[in-house]
Amino acid sequence: MSRLVVVSNRVAVPDAQSATAGGLAVALRDALRSCGGIWFGWSGKTAPQTADQPTMTEVEPVTYATLDLGRKDYNEYYNGFANRTLWPLFHYRLDLAEFSHENHTGYLRVNTLFAEKLRPLIEDDDHIWVHDYHLIPLGRELRARGVAHPMGFYLHTPFPALEVLLALPSHALLVESLCSYDVLGFQTENDLRAFRDYIQHEAGGEIVDANTIRAYGRQIHAEVFPIGIEQDQMEGASARAVEQGAARRLERMLHNRSLMIGVDRLDYSKGIPERFRSFERFLELYPAHRGQVSMMQIAPLSRSEVPEYKAIRDTLEGLAGYINGRYGDFDWMPLHYLTKNFQRETLAGFFRLSRVGVVTPLRDGMNLVAKEYVASQDPDYPGVLVLSRFAGAARELDAALLVNPYDHDGVAAALNKGLVMSLEERRERWQSMYAKVRGNSLEYWRERFLTVLRAVPTPMALRASG
Ligand code: G6P
Repeated sequence: MSRLVVVSNRVAVPDAQSATAGGLAVALRDALRSCGGIWFGWSGKTAPQTADQPTMTEVEPVTYATLDLGRKDYNEYYNGFANRTLWPLFHYRLDLAEFSHENHTGYLRVNTLFAEKLRPLIEDDDHIWVHDYHLIPLGRELRARGVAHPMGFYLHTPFPALEVLLALPSHALLVESLCSYDVLGFQTENDLRAFRDYIQHEAGGEIVDANTIRAYGRQIHAEVFPIGIEQDQMEGASARAVEQGAARRLERMLHNRSLMIGVDRLDYSKGIPERFRSFERFLELYPAHRGQVSMMQIAPLSRSEVPEYKAIRDTLEGLAGYINGRYGDFDWMPLHYLTKNFQRETLAGFFRLSRVGVVTPLRDGMNLVAKEYVASQDPDYPGVLVLSRFAGAARELDAALLVNPYDHDGVAAALNKGLVMSLEERRERWQSMYAKVRGNSLEYWRERFLTVLRAVPTPMALRASG
């Protein structure tokens, strides 16, 4: 099998980060291990200047090639264009999107640099798989350097509707860059439809069939590959963790009260302030639950140097204090709000103990926490998932209690429904969701994408056949 070259903004080099590597990192690493190859990207570290050459770490048969980013590149490319322009725009937050020429230049500069440093590492028979919004221009830059190899791109976030994308001054270049790839992967039908809309109505391209478009002189395969989780690992972890220290202590702290849980990176797309307000409405509208149920929100800090992330942190601290001050009692705290990070295994135990999983992003590419919550449940006494209809996961997990996160009364009603639901209905809903999570594992997702990518001939294969 030919080698694979994976490119992502962050690279999880084993050892240094393996303790915290998430499921996705492990899945990509496994793919690389099976065929050998390179994982290229940012080291996650900053330095006064961007490194001149990547640091190579060999963990046979995989080479990790990572670059430290200088402050200017880090600010303009990562904090700036990726996380203050594309991220809010792709999550329908035009009100938060900043359009700065300088940041756009920095974004293109880092993508060009990545292409320059990656180019000499690519061998004739390689397949290249690029991940996420940070690296959209990379394919175009590689093509400009003579890379004719099969290249796939997977977008982990939503792809915005045409009208929203048009607000980006550089939208044309961005979509043209996407069309440098041979295979484009999206999370949901919605995202693929939005992309096809752009191609048809803005780019003057052609929709050939369900998964083929022609634009900018190229033919591209664009398909939906909803990402999954390592369900059996999560399941095993939750069964083990629920018997262990942290989960036991949590259970003792609860004193037979029910627990509702939310776990999200501290990001405005996750709808955490709206969730807190909905929880407050729930306490107001359903007073019988006061003193009987607590909500635990775990929100590890993320992108802390971006002003919008600092602002949301202040908002949440204010809201949590307000809710606990208003409703709490000397022996009951309604809302536990933590920015601490927990191991996946510990979270799995917490999920299994929770009667309701609250996953209410305002917009989310997929949301793997929703799937992890389902995988972590005790099949005999499963909890209830309250899920935003604006998370990609809602397409598959339609047996959850689907909510509109902007509708605080509606979410409050769903929280109540989750708490009073009969065991029979809980089991029915859970079984339906579990079957979906099981049927679309992370490995299945990866192999589906790679099968399509590997069907594109490499330059070496083309030479051999011609
Ligand atoms: C989202 C993005 C990923 C990103 C992750 C963590 O899931 O789609 O590309 O790695 O958030 O964000 P961070 O900025 O810390 O890498």
